[in-house]
Amino acid sequence: MAISAPRSRGWSTLSVVLHWAIVVLIVVQFINHEWMVDLWRATRRGAEVDATTQTAGWAHVVAGSLVLLAALLRLWDRFAHGRPPYPAEEPTWSLWLARITHALIYAILILMPIAGLIAWFGMIGEAGEIHEFMWTPLLVLIGLHVIGALAQQFWFRTGVLKRIFVPGTV
Ligand code: HEM
Ligand code: HEM
Repeated sequence: MAISAPRSRGWSTLSVVLHWAIVVLIVVQFINHEWMVDLWRATRRGAEVDATTQTAGWAHVVAGSLVLLAALLRLWDRFAHGRPPYPAEEPTWSLWLARITHALIYAILILMPIAGLIAWFGMIGEAGEIHEFMWTPLLVLIGLHVIGALAQQFWFRTGVLKRIFVPGTV
């Protein structure tokens, strides 16, 4: 099943910039999530937190919301303009693995911040639990995705890695 029409050009500049912006934002979330948990627990108890926890916690809210915006914008670009074709020489099984991994990554990049926003602004504990639950699958999928990208480069020897850095590369 083709998710969208393939195009002969590579990724758009917007898609490339958003890909790496999302990577940076996920690293930010990786670094600051403990502060967010402290801020969340203290706020729910009505307790005070220090300035570092306050700032890092709000950075989590901002960076996480930006992930949501970036993922939606990237998906829009992908559906509006298509994506570069998957390499023809790639075996069917790895093609499908890549497609499923990408779909699940997009799903989490959208659902996780939504659950976080509902938890934080609605002070709803269950949404916080759902938010937390998605973290490990996201890390596993990212791990799989990076292994896949490196396998493309060094095993299948396709130009896929280059095209996520250089817009327009097929
Ligand atoms: C894709 C973007 C995001 C990622 C990767 C992310 C990641 C995380 C992680 C790893 C935790 C710690 C879970 C734990 O160990 O308890 C966490 C907690 C939390 N995050 Fe996010 N977050 C994102 C977006 C957001 C957004 C937009 C908000 C909105 C305010 C938010 C609010 C929260 C809250 C309230 C908690 C505490 C929940 C709890 O401990 O039950 N997050 N986040
Ligand atoms: C937070 C980490 C990352 C996330 C969430 C992420 C997510 C994604 C997503 C959603 C796509 C788009 C697939 C599509 O629309 O069809 C993609 C493409 C791609 N990513 Fe990542 N990525 C991450 C890190 C990396 C890293 C570190 C590398 C390189 C080692 C990488 C290499 C690639 C490549 C090569 C593509 C293009 C695949 C193609 O053209 O067929 N990604 N990534």
